[in-house]
Amino acid sequence: MQDLFGGGAAARNRVVLDGTFAHFREHVRALVAADVPAEDVEYVVAAPSALRADEGGALFETREQPTPAPDPGGATLSLPRAAVARIETASHHRSDAVWRTLHRVVARIAGGERDLLDDSLDPDVVALTRFEKAIRRDAHKMHAFVRFRRLEDDDARGGERFVAWYQPSHRIVGREARFFRERFPSMDWSILTPDGCAHWNGARVVLTPGVDRDAAPKDDDWEALWCDYYASIFNPARVKLDAMRAEMPKKFWHTLPETQQMESLLADVPRRLEEMRRNSRRMADSAAAFVPGGADLSALREALASCEGCELCTNGTRAVAGEGRANARIALLGEQPGDVEERSGRPFVGPAGEELGEALRAAGLTREDLYVTNAVKHFRHDLRGKRRIHKRPTVEHVSRCQPWVDAELAAVEPEALVCLGVTAGRAVFGPTHRAPDPNAAPTPRSSRYAPRTFTTFHPAAILRAPDEARRERLRSHLLATLRRASQDRGAPVR
Ligand code: URA
Repeated sequence: MQDLFGGGAAARNRVVLDGTFAHFREHVRALVAADVPAEDVEYVVAAPSALRADEGGALFETREQPTPAPDPGGATLSLPRAAVARIETASHHRSDAVWRTLHRVVARIAGGERDLLDDSLDPDVVALTRFEKAIRRDAHKMHAFVRFRRLEDDDARGGERFVAWYQPSHRIVGREARFFRERFPSMDWSILTPDGCAHWNGARVVLTPGVDRDAAPKDDDWEALWCDYYASIFNPARVKLDAMRAEMPKKFWHTLPETQQMESLLADVPRRLEEMRRNSRRMADSAAAFVPGGADLSALREALASCEGCELCTNGTRAVAGEGRANARIALLGEQPGDVEERSGRPFVGPAGEELGEALRAAGLTREDLYVTNAVKHFRHDLRGKRRIHKRPTVEHVSRCQPWVDAELAAVEPEALVCLGVTAGRAVFGPTHRAPDPNAAPTPRSSRYAPRTFTTFHPAAILRAPDEARRERLRSHLLATLRRASQDRGAPVR
C-alpha cells in the first residue's frame, strides 16, 4: 500500500477535502491511478466553520490542505459523461461515507466495468443512487423554502440586495446557485448557508465561506405583504399536517415568515372548512332557489335569512331585508347594508341613513311612507383588524341577489322607484348605467320595477364628496329627485 500523502506506513491515506467535486476528482484520480483501494483511504471534509473568507478567498479553501497528490505517470481517468454527472450529484451529500462509495465507483468503471451504473442491484450503485436521491430531494426543498429578505446595499443593482439564510441538509448551495440565478436573474441576491454562501450580481455567482444564521437579516418591509399573501392562498381543505411536517421539516420553519402565522391559520381551519362546505352547497346560480314564489314581504324577510345565493352568505354577516310600507307609492333602492345596518338588521340606519333622513325630511317624506331596500342583502367588506371596511359588491353579487329585489318590488308595486347610487342604478338598468349629471334635472324612466324610476346619488357619496361645493350639488340632486318622485303622478313614463 502506498501512502500518497506522507505519514509513513499508515494503514490509511487521509485525504482532507474541501467538500467540492473538483477537489475530490483531483484526489481520486491520483488514488485510483495508484491502485489505492477506497477502503484504504480516510476521506474527511474540513468543517466549513473552519473556513474564513480571507483564506485565499475561494470557497471551501481548507486550512488543512494536504499537499496535492501527484498524478503518478500522468495517468488520466476517462469515465462516461453520464457517470461523471451522477458521481458529481452524489458528491454533494454530507455523509463522509459518500467519498468511499464514489471512489469505488470511479475505480470500478475506470477498471473496465463501463456499464456498472446500469446494474441497479449492485451495492455500490444502490448506494450511489441513494445519495443522488437525497441530493435531489434536498434541492427540491431548497427551491421551495428559500425566502429572501430585502436589504439596502449600495453596491447592488437598484441599491437593494435580497438575502436568504438557509440550512440545506447537504452541501448544495453552489450546485443550486444555478437554479436561483435562472429564476431571479434581475435581482442581486445572496444565499447564506453554514457551508458556504452564493452571491449573484447579475453577471456571475460568487461563492464565499459559510456563515452563522445571525449573519442573515430576519425581517423586511415586504414580510407583512408576503404573510398576507400566504394567508390569502392558504387552503384549509388542503392541510395535511403529517405531509406538511414531512415536506416542510421544522428546521425550515424559522426561516419561513409564513410559518410564524401557521398556528393561527391552523386554528382557523375548522371554521374555514365549514365556510367552504357551505360555499359548495350554495352554489346555486343565484338567490332564485331561496326566494319563495308569490310571497308577501314578511315571508320574504323570513326566507332571506337562509339565503345562500352567493358567497357573501358565508362572510359572517346577516342578510338585511327591506323595510317599510307594503303598499308604498315610492320605493328606494340602495347598494348594500353597511356596518351599522348589518348590526341592527335594518337598511339605512347608519351615517348614510342619517343623510338620507335629512333629504327625506326636506322633501316632505317620512320613512313610514316608503319601502326602503338594497340591491345586495349582505354586507360585503374587508376586515382591517377589527374594523369592517365597506367593499362595493360586484356585478355578480348584484345579479345573484336580484331575485330578492324582484320579489320585494313585485310585492310592493311602487309607482316610483329611486335608485340611490350607481350600484342600485345598475341593478335596474344594467351594468352600463352611469351616475347622472348632478346639474341636470332628475328625469324618470320606466323600468320593470316601477313606471317612473329615477337614478340619483347615494347619500354615502354625498358624505364622501371631496369638497363642500360638490357635496351641495349631489345633495341638491338627491333632494330634487325625492321631491320629483313624491310629487309626480300620472302617466307612466316610456
Ligand atoms: N348604504 C346602502 O346602500 N344601504 C344601506 O342600507 C346603508 C348604507
